[in-house]
Amino acid sequence: MSTRKILVTSALPYANGPIHLGHLLEYIQTDIWARFQKARGHECYYVCADDAHGTPIMLKAQEQGITSEQMIAKTNIEHQADFAGFAIGFDNYHSTHSDENREFASQIYNKLNAGGYIKRKTISQLFDPQKQMFLPDRFVKGDCPKCGALDQNGDSCDVCGATYSPTEVKNARSVVSGATPVLKDSEHYFFDLPAFGQMLQDWTRSGSLQDEMANKLQEWFKDGLQMWDISRDAPYFGFEIPGAPGKFFYVWLDAPIGYLASFKNLCDKKGIDFDSFWQLDSDAEVYHFIGKDIIYFHSLFWPAMLHGAGMRKPNAIFAHGFVTVNGAKMSKSRGTFIKARTYLDHLNPEYLRYYFASKLSSSITDLDLNLDDFSQKVNADLVGKVVNIASRCAGFITKRYDGKLSANVAEPELLAEFTAAGESIADSFEKREFARAIRDIMALADKANQYIDAKAPWVLVKDDSKQQEAHDVCSMGINLFRVLMHYLKPVLPVMASETEAFLNSELSWSNYQQPLTNHAINPFKALMQRVEPAKVAAMLEASKENLQPAAEEPATKAAKTEKPASGEREPIAETISIDDFAKIDLRVARIIKAEAVEGADKLVQLQLDIGAGEVRQVFAGIKAAYSPEQLEGRLTVMVANLAPRKMRFGLSEGMVLAAGPGGSELFILSPDDGAEPGMRVK
Ligand code: MSP
Ligand code: ZN
Repeated sequence: MSTRKILVTSALPYANGPIHLGHLLEYIQTDIWARFQKARGHECYYVCADDAHGTPIMLKAQEQGITSEQMIAKTNIEHQADFAGFAIGFDNYHSTHSDENREFASQIYNKLNAGGYIKRKTISQLFDPQKQMFLPDRFVKGDCPKCGALDQNGDSCDVCGATYSPTEVKNARSVVSGATPVLKDSEHYFFDLPAFGQMLQDWTRSGSLQDEMANKLQEWFKDGLQMWDISRDAPYFGFEIPGAPGKFFYVWLDAPIGYLASFKNLCDKKGIDFDSFWQLDSDAEVYHFIGKDIIYFHSLFWPAMLHGAGMRKPNAIFAHGFVTVNGAKMSKSRGTFIKARTYLDHLNPEYLRYYFASKLSSSITDLDLNLDDFSQKVNADLVGKVVNIASRCAGFITKRYDGKLSANVAEPELLAEFTAAGESIADSFEKREFARAIRDIMALADKANQYIDAKAPWVLVKDDSKQQEAHDVCSMGINLFRVLMHYLKPVLPVMASETEAFLNSELSWSNYQQPLTNHAINPFKALMQRVEPAKVAAMLEASKENLQPAAEEPATKAAKTEKPASGEREPIAETISIDDFAKIDLRVARIIKAEAVEGADKLVQLQLDIGAGEVRQVFAGIKAAYSPEQLEGRLTVMVANLAPRKMRFGLSEGMVLAAGPGGSELFILSPDDGAEPGMRVK
């Protein structure tokens, strides 16, 4: 087996949100593959970084009253902690907001420019006159120009499915300020993607892509490749374009360059030869693992940029499908939008690593995390089959045979069958057919258990004349367990390292075929607990809590309701009993003071008189709809028994009720004349 040089990446997560279980499919898939390559003795590096630039990150930082740099620094720490929690073994985790990335972005841009691949053109775009900034499509909302559905996205309609330009939207408004956007001209920089059409067609056919992806690309080629707008005007959080003051690289221009930046950062720390991986005639392999939503960027823009800059292209792009939970898109209201941190608070990360592995293939079909199936599979396979082998044998070795494995190999043929499966299991890992590898490993686990069942060492040990046989059978069981844990090591690195401590021996491709004989092992400790249904339920419950009003999710009911599936009306919620309703204590309240919150674009700070001399402070996300003057003095309705929520700006002690889709279209409730602060609404 000759040593390969392999560089592996996962997509760079945006630095404006937490890692969730959807992301983790990708990082777990990549990590298993990278661990497998390293275990096979190859020189393999796995790098990643935060994707730190762009308008959403800039605006979110502003909303929180911190600088973009402060926000991405905080997120970087959180992301790294989440990934470490799931044993994602990056060799380096960096940021696109780094010196290396600035350097590479300039270099590549300058080469593309020198090659004549950068064009300039003045275009007209929607501009927020209040915020003094151009609006990305997703920051424009309005009525669909095709079907008229209210409050649709700036580029597509959820009701009729139409896609359009934000300039076509009726009654457009800026999501940032609520202001009506105006059209404004500006010069933009474009990357000449069509110039790379032929090269990309050839590259696509060279076997670098999964069939499903190659087919998708054929459609894109048929539609014709377009010039790619790579500049954004200030204010923008990113890198200024060399020689173009006030113009910044669009986030997706420097994001994939972040792969180079993170690897360079690693090379500098470890003395690895960067160029030997990236120069044109490099013999190293480069693979990008990504989700199916970002194929366009990775299979068209990125190889074209590299090609235009005189660099090598990746050997392959490995795309995967999307995670659904219990058969549906992850949903905050159902509690299935599960953050990495929330999962880690309740469950063993290796359950998820195993479950994803048991369902992953090389295709881009979606993957459902069905939580009943998840518990059942982990309990049946890992606890019931694999760990069971060791726990049925280890105790006897420790108690009766001095903690030492027998000098004999009781069933050489059975052991040979286990070790002979290695190359085909390795082939499955190599081809990212993890589900197939797991199926084969579990079939062997069944055989090991059948062997132990048939030999019943717990019966043999009671017979003085059968001590040798009992010792041999238990030792055989441990050796079979060892081979299986060796195969599972890329999937379950933590359990594998505990197994190594237990066995006093490293699990490795160089020694797994030689059984341990006459070998001292350590007392067995349970390697994995069963999944407890109560913990799964608690995790879902805690994920629902994430919906509590926060700075990002302002404290008004309407603003945090998920967008209705139909443009007409949000579906009526599940029926509740009168007792359920009685739990909500609604009170008439007088707004005695209202003021803007510094550093928060959407929030108004309210002081509410709720009778009996009590004043409550509430932060409400209604700034785009009401000025403080319009609010002061009026009566409204609040939820008075909502758990207080600590926000960056202070404590929010309840919630004001309002209706409407959000932004400037929010309408707070008022009681009829005669109502008094403190009266209960029922
Ligand atoms: N920042 C870009 C990637 C830049 S790469 C040069 C981005 N970030 S992301 O945070 O939105 O997503 C990171 C990765 O997670 C992407 O590959 C994306 O496809 C993947 N996933 C995000 N949600 C997912 C699921 N629900 N299911 C599976 N993968 C998902 O895109
Ligand atoms: Zn429509």
